Amino acid sequence: MFSSNPFVTLSEVISPAMMQGYIVLMVLLVVGGTILDMLHKKSAKYFFENAKKAQKSAKRSVSSGEKMSIAASVLVNEVLTSGEFSNPRRRLSHLLTMYGTIIFIVTTAIMVFSPESTSTLLPQLWHIGALMLAVGGYWFWLFIRVDVSAEGLPWFRFERADLFILSLLATSTFALIWSFTGGGLSVFFALFILSSTVLFGGVYWSKFAHMFFKPAAAHQKKITVADGSRENLPPDYDLTDPEVQRKFPDIPTYMGKNPPNMGLCIKAERPNHY
Ligand code: HEM
Repeated sequence: MFSSNPFVTLSEVISPAMMQGYIVLMVLLVVGGTILDMLHKKSAKYFFENAKKAQKSAKRSVSSGEKMSIAASVLVNEVLTSGEFSNPRRRLSHLLTMYGTIIFIVTTAIMVFSPESTSTLLPQLWHIGALMLAVGGYWFWLFIRVDVSAEGLPWFRFERADLFILSLLATSTFALIWSFTGGGLSVFFALFILSSTVLFGGVYWSKFAHMFFKPAAAHQKKITVADGSRENLPPDYDLTDPEVQRKFPDIPTYMGKNPPNMGLCIKAERPNHY
């Protein structure tokens, strides 16, 4: 069942050219939705203006070698391993959702654009990708979502911000049911296409485009730390450091010669929710 390619039976009723046209249309919808999103929110304009402003308060210039190593660290930490999530459950669920989506989309495109392929690996990966997406997504939707886990709201309550995760879940669920019920033209196929059209056509309204913006934001954040501009936030001072005490001579007046460690503060509790 896992190794049967559902697009082969589908090609008896819908031509491969039509399927390929649908995929091209979805790509165009994602590109268009992302551009409209940027124009509407002025996020790109804000991003570049903010980066320029930060550059003005830079304490040192960042060499191109350093920039490359920052880009590599963003790729490894934030993009490939979802390092921005402190809560390990959220991180794991994001990894499942992200890699599931990528495997599912890439194998769909390969199978649709090479209808003569007899590979059994591709359909296997397609099913595994859809399953990973469904497991990570349902886990997030039912148990991890802040509204549910921290605010005690019921899992079935949703608003526009949930469009992305819900259309992802619907796409993977109906794709799997469609394949397991024999493929072809069926009500599950119609639901699969409807949900994937909402997923790719809803970029303007959903948080789909975060996958393009987040890496850029993470990179910029690391640049502001490297160039010392730090978004106008103070550095992490060690108050016992004589250099720091010289800079702020009034510290001993308020906190004594050896200022006490103020504790873990925000890190005192394990990040349970966010
Ligand atoms: C196929 C690619 C991706 C998919 C399907 C995906 C899916 C999701 C989903 C469903 C959420 C909501 C879950 C949650 O908040 O725990 C989310 C949030 C998040 N994603 Fe992704 N993601 C993808 C790529 C990326 C990439 C490349 C990055 C970053 C560098 C990223 C960073 C984040 C962050 C930081 C959040 C939390 C945002 C917030 O709380 O507003 N994601 N992602």
